[in-house]
Amino acid sequence: MSNITGKIIGLGSFFPANVVTNDDLAKIVETNDAWIQERTGIKQRHIADGVNEKSSTMAVKAAKAAVEDAGIDPKDIDLIVCASTSPDLMFPTLATTVQEAIGATEDCGCFDVNSACPGWLAAFNTVQGFIESGNSKLALVIGAETLSNVTDWTDRGSCILFGDGAGAAVLKAEEGKRNELIMRSSGARGECLHLETSKQPKRYDEEGFEKKTVMYMAGRDVFRFAVTEVPKLITDLSVKYNFDLADVDYFILHQANARIIESTAKKLEINLEKFPMTIEKTGNTSSASIPALLTEMKKDGRLKKGMKLVFASFGGGLTWNANYIEY
Ligand code: UT7
Repeated sequence: MSNITGKIIGLGSFFPANVVTNDDLAKIVETNDAWIQERTGIKQRHIADGVNEKSSTMAVKAAKAAVEDAGIDPKDIDLIVCASTSPDLMFPTLATTVQEAIGATEDCGCFDVNSACPGWLAAFNTVQGFIESGNSKLALVIGAETLSNVTDWTDRGSCILFGDGAGAAVLKAEEGKRNELIMRSSGARGECLHLETSKQPKRYDEEGFEKKTVMYMAGRDVFRFAVTEVPKLITDLSVKYNFDLADVDYFILHQANARIIESTAKKLEINLEKFPMTIEKTGNTSSASIPALLTEMKKDGRLKKGMKLVFASFGGGLTWNANYIEY
């Protein structure tokens, strides 16, 4: 087996300008800043305007930033895969929208994947499969979400959690340690977190917003699932690929709830400092959360070449995935 893998050579993210604080949400549902901070670690989230800021436009902005960061010519990109659970169109895909906007050629394959919050990891694994089998040399992997379109803004148990945004990574075929992963799913447990396919007719801040479907989350059940399965998954990953968790530089977890991340660190007996977080500023941005966190870490200098990283994500499906990579 060759030692070619997809190295992350560029990262980018985008968040809408509109910042919605916990106090703002307290005007919509019966909640308060102290409860939200204590139970989730979230202080604010960004909400798209739905006109200039949509999953597609945010995917494009994150992708352009990643391409610029990588210093590559978009014409050399041969694959774009975008993860989203809230695309503004089912098709054309977000990936083809990005292809046109960044000036990639028609020799670039494009498709979207939907795996809810772990969508970016599913897309990352798919792209790694293409690269490691020699079918792609330079690829873009994007996560973009406008969850505000599908949130039940009458449900204080879920609407306080989510935010909008996008993150992207450029992966280049290079010599290196291959992508090591475990993917798990349970359709039998899917009911506790599901999303119907339509968009809420009114925005969160519009007069007369009323619940029309769409996202349902039994928060306590999902919480229990995450704090049970994620530490087990990471431990199983270290056993399967024979590495020591103490040697990992950072654990990049889906930013769903700070308490889930803290509980995972505690169960694994790893210092919480190795579990970076952005959730305070962004809320839970589903498939955008991991690439956006990586982007922030690259910008502030925490991420360095050769670092050993564990990625882990979990959510609708139910699905939970983890990877061990060398950055
Ligand atoms: O992205 C992947 C998928 N999603 C997740 O990973 C989310 C997982 N779940 C969670 O993060 C947490 O379950 C939540 C943050 C959603 C909720 O926190 P919790 O600690 O599990 O709260 P709870 O649902 O057990 O509710 C505790 C109490 C209840 O009151 P009673 O019955 O004890 O009187 C709720 O009615 O808190 C009440 N409550 C609230 N109070 C103020 C629920 N939501 C709120 C709220 N403000 N927003």
